[in-house]
Amino acid sequence: MMLPQKVRIVEVGPRDGLQNEAALVPAAVKIELIHRLADAGLPVVEATAFVSPKWVPQMADNTAVMAGIRRKPGVAYPVLVPNLKGFEAALAAGAEEVAVFAAASEAFSQKNINCSIADSLARFEPVMQAAKQHGVRVRGYISCVAGCPYQGAVEPAAVAEVAAELARMGCYEISLGDTIGVGTPKQIQTMLSTVALAVPMEKLAVHFHDTWGQALANIYAALELGVATIDSSVAGLGGCPYAKGASGNVATEDVVYMLDGLGIDTGVDLEMVFAAGQYICGELKREPASKVARALAAKACA
Ligand code: HMG
Ligand code: MG
Repeated sequence: MMLPQKVRIVEVGPRDGLQNEAALVPAAVKIELIHRLADAGLPVVEATAFVSPKWVPQMADNTAVMAGIRRKPGVAYPVLVPNLKGFEAALAAGAEEVAVFAAASEAFSQKNINCSIADSLARFEPVMQAAKQHGVRVRGYISCVAGCPYQGAVEPAAVAEVAAELARMGCYEISLGDTIGVGTPKQIQTMLSTVALAVPMEKLAVHFHDTWGQALANIYAALELGVATIDSSVAGLGGCPYAKGASGNVATEDVVYMLDGLGIDTGVDLEMVFAAGQYICGELKREPASKVARALAAKACA
């Protein structure tokens, strides 16, 4: 099977990676992290979220983060928005790209954004209209594409239905999130093949959390089907406040190492992402979850 020659990595560490941290991370640290990630060659660095600060206190400094970042030409800095209020705040803060987020599971939709899937999609309509009016690109996320922490199994057809709706509304790309990291490679391929009947594969991205240690295998399975956009988080930071026990996203260092080994071009410098991971782990006073980062650190000490 032919793998893509180029892959676009969407770095979600500053948002997905940090949103679950109990202790508030200063905006200056987030800004420094974003700069380091962009300097490492990541073409997309998701910067923050314009969600309710009561729901996710860690993202309450969204405006300060957006004001503090020095934007590198050619790098996109999307932000999450759940509704028009979030969109308007994001726009005022200078966002040029946003991401709306829905779920393939009703139970998760209720817990995460306090409404049904249908209501969430209805809330996105005015966001899409306002985005179009202001020339803002919109990415769409779908959570729980391989299982839900509250309702268990999620049918691929349910994922395809939401994906079709997000694409119809004008999302340029749909990121398929295995929020609790339960999927396995064949299951992911079945899900992707089903979704691709509704939305072309080139518009799909994968967003895997590594809770059950399947993320890299699932990414490889997605590459085999032609998916060429992969979300990841530096040092494997992260989790979801509304998916208890969900561990971090697949680590950017691990993805870059695997893609380098496969001869797939990402434009990302592994050593520089590693250094960015060392920086944020130093601030959080923790070891990176990335196996590649641990191996590089051990090599440096040897
Ligand atoms: P709600 O309580 O149902 O909303 O929350 P509401 O409209 O009744 O508003 C309640 C209060 O929030 C009001 O303030 C609003 O003004 C305010 P009050 O009158 O009480 O002072 N509010 C806002 N404030 C700031 N920004 C906003 C905003 N909207 C309302 N945009 C809501 C509904 C959607 C707002 C809430 O549930 C929420 O913010 N949820 C966000 C949850 C979240 O961020 N989860 C993590 C991101 S998703 C994820 O991680 C998955 C992903 O990575 C993919 C994967 O892994 O699967 C993307
Ligand atoms: Mg996530």
